[in-house]
Amino acid sequence: MTQSCTYVIFGSTGNLSRVKLMPALYHLEAAGKIPEGTRILALGRRPWDRAHFASEAREWVQAKARGRLDEDIFERFAARLDYFQGDLNDSGMYPGLRDYIAGSHDFPDNIAFYMAISPAEFGIVVEQLHNAQLLEEQGGWKRVVIEKPFGYDLESAQALQRRIGRYLREDQVYRIDHYLGKGTVQNVLVFRFANTMMEPLWNRNYIDHIQITHSETLGVGSRAHFYDGAGAMRDMIQSHLLQLLALVAMEPPAAMDAESLRDEKVKVLKSVRRISPSAVHAHAFRAQYSEGLVGEEKVPGYLQEPNIPADSVNETYAALKLYIDNWRWRGVPIYLRTGKRMAEGQSMVSICFRHPPQQFFRGTQVERIRQNWVLLGIQPCECLRMEMTVKEPGLEMRTRQTSLDASLRNANDDLTDAYEELLLDVIDGDRSLFLRYDEVEYAWQVVDPVLRVWSMERDFIHTYPAGSWGPKESRRLFEKEEHEWRHSLTPEQK
Ligand code: BG6
Repeated sequence: MTQSCTYVIFGSTGNLSRVKLMPALYHLEAAGKIPEGTRILALGRRPWDRAHFASEAREWVQAKARGRLDEDIFERFAARLDYFQGDLNDSGMYPGLRDYIAGSHDFPDNIAFYMAISPAEFGIVVEQLHNAQLLEEQGGWKRVVIEKPFGYDLESAQALQRRIGRYLREDQVYRIDHYLGKGTVQNVLVFRFANTMMEPLWNRNYIDHIQITHSETLGVGSRAHFYDGAGAMRDMIQSHLLQLLALVAMEPPAAMDAESLRDEKVKVLKSVRRISPSAVHAHAFRAQYSEGLVGEEKVPGYLQEPNIPADSVNETYAALKLYIDNWRWRGVPIYLRTGKRMAEGQSMVSICFRHPPQQFFRGTQVERIRQNWVLLGIQPCECLRMEMTVKEPGLEMRTRQTSLDASLRNANDDLTDAYEELLLDVIDGDRSLFLRYDEVEYAWQVVDPVLRVWSMERDFIHTYPAGSWGPKESRRLFEKEEHEWRHSLTPEQK
């Protein structure tokens, strides 16, 4: 039986808390998943009290609730909420927080501290929690949930790890990558390891190349301060897309427990061929959106967005070609791509199989057999599709592409947000869907050489009109002339 705990949310009035954490906790309440006696202590600088925070939380939840907000459930949820006013940078705040928690009898001794704050503050907050003895485990466990990015590059990730490692054991640290909480991302494992059909084909002998795409129609929004220093490579590829790659490419784990799973993911990241500085241009591509049309709406370019410096060369689009140098994958190009203000918002993994060894149909109307694809739609469409070539009915020998569709969601299946699962896993002490430090470190090793070269090239960046699929120059990454970016989950009939 899961024990009750105190969820202390640092940064509780910020964007993440409004848009994700509070709605997710409310939905967990609705599903009856929050253990009896669990409390949520929101921390913020604003001079609010418990009642004020609850009324704000009500608005945030209402904006994101699936269906209508249920008053009875919200009342139950609000009864768990409390608010503590304090400034993270004030060392006097932490003993005050400790006394507040200790002074009330209804805060459980198991405490999860959630860092919904700026990455630059992770280290100092952990240190201060330690100094105020808030990490001591007499009476109950203490866990710390750290949002991404963990560090800014390899060196700063190592420094952050050294710092928090002084006060926390690895099993107390929950490094979130919310992508791992998405249903289809977990389904990659089920698809691969609960079905025997694919496994014999899942290697360099049958697979031509792999693409992993995350595109968004949104722009930088109100996150200029964070995003202009981070860019698409750090924001998406170092974390979410490399995690997806690890799941797609890993070996079957010895067991489905957290350590076995993470051991296998690390092996993939460790086997990714390092990109040397002279190879960066052949392996990585960056670009920035200029003004354009997203749907019907005319939107400004990145440089015209509020708080973006007029000479910024920060990338809003990044693409990367990688090779995994192991027995299963050697020689198979893997293309990762992400962008803001693209033509459509979607995430998918596209696996392209090799051509059949012989072109049997030469001399007929079938000039060239199309390749098979396996497509894993992550969002918005959660699906699994296999594309095959079949003969068209009729007297002529013509073919068409058809798609075998295993939809992952039935109309009445429950929808959940990635954060719901992850917030619950923290209470349950299940770290399978959180990143172990070595995963983060190897992921930085993959992107660091690219970031270093890009940081020196400050004069030029390609642009693409908002609402497009990115610059065609990104084709320079392709290993073969016939490779194309795959944008769609439906067969392209040519
Ligand atoms: C976040 C990035 O981690 O993931 C954002 O910081 C990005 O820039 C987001 O928009 C995408 O995740 P989702 O779940 O909204 O597709």
